[in-house]
Amino acid sequence: MMPIGPLMIEHRLIERMIDVMREELNLFEKEKKLNLEFLEMAVDFIRTYADRCHHGKEEDILFRELGEKKLKDDHRHIMEELIEDHRWGRKMTARLVEANKRYIAGEENAMSIAIDCMKSLIQFYPKHIEKEDKHFFIPCMEYFSETEQQSILREEWEFDRNLIHEKYKNMVVAVEKELTSRTL
Ligand SMILES: [Fe+2]
Ligand SMILES: [Fe+2]
Repeated sequence: MMPIGPLMIEHRLIERMIDVMREELNLFEKEKKLNLEFLEMAVDFIRTYADRCHHGKEEDILFRELGEKKLKDDHRHIMEELIEDHRWGRKMTARLVEANKRYIAGEENAMSIAIDCMKSLIQFYPKHIEKEDKHFFIPCMEYFSETEQQSILREEWEFDRNLIHEKYKNMVVAVEKELTSRTL
């Protein structure tokens, strides 16, 4: 398998989640209320799977290795754009989390902010994925030898293997900090 194989498989799951988010968004608008349980799950999916697991492998492994190569100008330009897209996605997700909190606190315009964030994310992901699938991933494989491709793929598997440990270690560190600040 090429190192873009796992990334393209992950794109398909992200697309499925975006389809569900689109349907949920229609319901939010129809019922004039947010489904906070769904939003919490969607935010976890975006942060843990789409951003940390997926964008993490792109940025920390594939793009890092591409950065070592003499890329054609258009490829370098797309790679910079993709990194910027990831940053934008993080900011929009943080805005959605903030809006959800304000909604829980009863702030009047929080629902429309949350809906706008959802709409932005729903529009963003398919475009970002198309850019990678159709204009970047395949041509970029030509910069790597077969051996380099296999080494990148191995590093991707290793990245995934460590991820669940990283997620829950961070969770324990966060609750420990919270506990310490409460008992001080
Ligand atoms: Fe990406
Ligand atoms: Fe991607």
